Amino acid sequence: MKIAVIGTGYVGLVTGTCFAESGNDVSCVDIDQTKIDRLRNGEVPIYEPGLGELIERNIAAGRLHFTADAVSAVPSAQLVYLAVGTPMSETGAADLSALWGVVDSIAPLLNENAIVVTKSTVPVGTNAAIYARLKEHTGRECRVASNPEFLKEGAAIDDFMKPDRVVVGVRSSEDSKVLAELYGPFLRTDKPFLSMSPESAEMTKYVANAMLATKISFINEMASLCAKMEANIDDVRRGIGHDSRIGFAFLFPGVGYGGSCFPKDVRALEHMAKNRGIDPEILQAVDEVNRKQKTVVPQLIAKYFDNNLADKKIAVWGLAFKPKTDDIREAPALVLIDHLLEGGCQIVVHDPEAMENVCEVYGDRLTYSDRLLDALDGADALAVMTEWGEFRTPDLAEMRARMKTPVIFDGRNVFNCDQMRSAGFSYYSIGRPRV
Ligand SMILES: NC(=O)c1ccc[n+]([C@@H]2O[C@H](COP(=O)([O-])OP(=O)(O)OC[C@H]3O[C@@H](n4cnc5c(N)ncnc54)[C@H](O)[C@@H]3O)[C@@H](O)[C@H]2O)c1
Repeated sequence: MKIAVIGTGYVGLVTGTCFAESGNDVSCVDIDQTKIDRLRNGEVPIYEPGLGELIERNIAAGRLHFTADAVSAVPSAQLVYLAVGTPMSETGAADLSALWGVVDSIAPLLNENAIVVTKSTVPVGTNAAIYARLKEHTGRECRVASNPEFLKEGAAIDDFMKPDRVVVGVRSSEDSKVLAELYGPFLRTDKPFLSMSPESAEMTKYVANAMLATKISFINEMASLCAKMEANIDDVRRGIGHDSRIGFAFLFPGVGYGGSCFPKDVRALEHMAKNRGIDPEILQAVDEVNRKQKTVVPQLIAKYFDNNLADKKIAVWGLAFKPKTDDIREAPALVLIDHLLEGGCQIVVHDPEAMENVCEVYGDRLTYSDRLLDALDGADALAVMTEWGEFRTPDLAEMRARMKTPVIFDGRNVFNCDQMRSAGFSYYSIGRPRV
């Protein structure tokens, strides 16, 4: 099939590349000319394991193209995927300005049979509104469909290539058939292709993210309770996780969820509920627990130093909102950095992939260490804010030798308490006894 993907960010780039990999002819469109130039020169603007090789292969095969000009991509496309950002607005609602800009600009370019498919996460009712807007522009009944995306950054290629399920929201069985054919190569292991109304598909995406965010806030609240009751959240997790009704997934205590999806999608769903006269009590609690959780490590550090942070040198390992991505949107590490800067700390940061993005925000207010252990030289304390694999088994004796004082605030429970005790560290973690 000939496909145009509008918006070449985390989702658009992965979507376009994976559709090309399964044999389609895909043009990825973005208004950011620099991004398009970089992609054309073989550079991948985001860090996502495995993505670079796939892009290279599909460009070479002549199936994947990048352009800033929708006119060269949309008129011949059978499917026009919308994958632009839908960030949080000041009210908490999703900001759809980029999406409407795209809908207006592609309307005169669409061929009569094209299906406009929304991949962006959009409030319930948006597909119906896109249909109405396209009709206004073209005078025709245009075909529109919803196809929410469930990939995880850091494992995006695998998630896209081997999805647990594909959800589409359509108005006709004909559109469902086209999308089922498109996804056929990705569903060879009998995973379900779920066809429903656009409203249900839009809602499915929000409910999935709200459920996952709820699990995280729930375990974090339980971890705070454990910390006050001499219980250990690791043991409690094991104690509940083996119950098949509960399980282990997404029940890891930490410094709160971040990223470009959970925070904004929980807020957007809250906003949709309020607009319809429903008080979203669970969603509000999930959001509030998460906001507080992001301040747990800053508070532990302030308490440890008796609120006297001036000139303390703090090393921060991990800046991305989760491992295997360079994405720092709503990352808990940024909340910590803001607190430490306010307290007058010197901050040395290390992250395997996200330092460039953090440098764009903080510039020379931070010191950037390319090497993990170098960040510790002369540090009064270390805070661990992302659970990158390479943080898990460092040389503890060398860490201790490099630090001025051996104090660790582990916001992701990457270290083992016994290990920390025998290595002589003062060690604070989430929901486990202090060492
Ligand atoms: N990032 C994720 O893990 C993820 C997962 C599932 C769903 N989503 C949803 O997918 C959507 C996209 O998210 P993302 O993380 O890829 O966003 P992003 O910010 O990384 O990318 C959006 C891209 O759209 C481009 N763009 C904006 N206006 C445009 C226009 N008029 N024409 C062409 N391009 C334009 C931007 O330049 C940018 O490259 C959002 O709705 C998000 O909620 C994201």
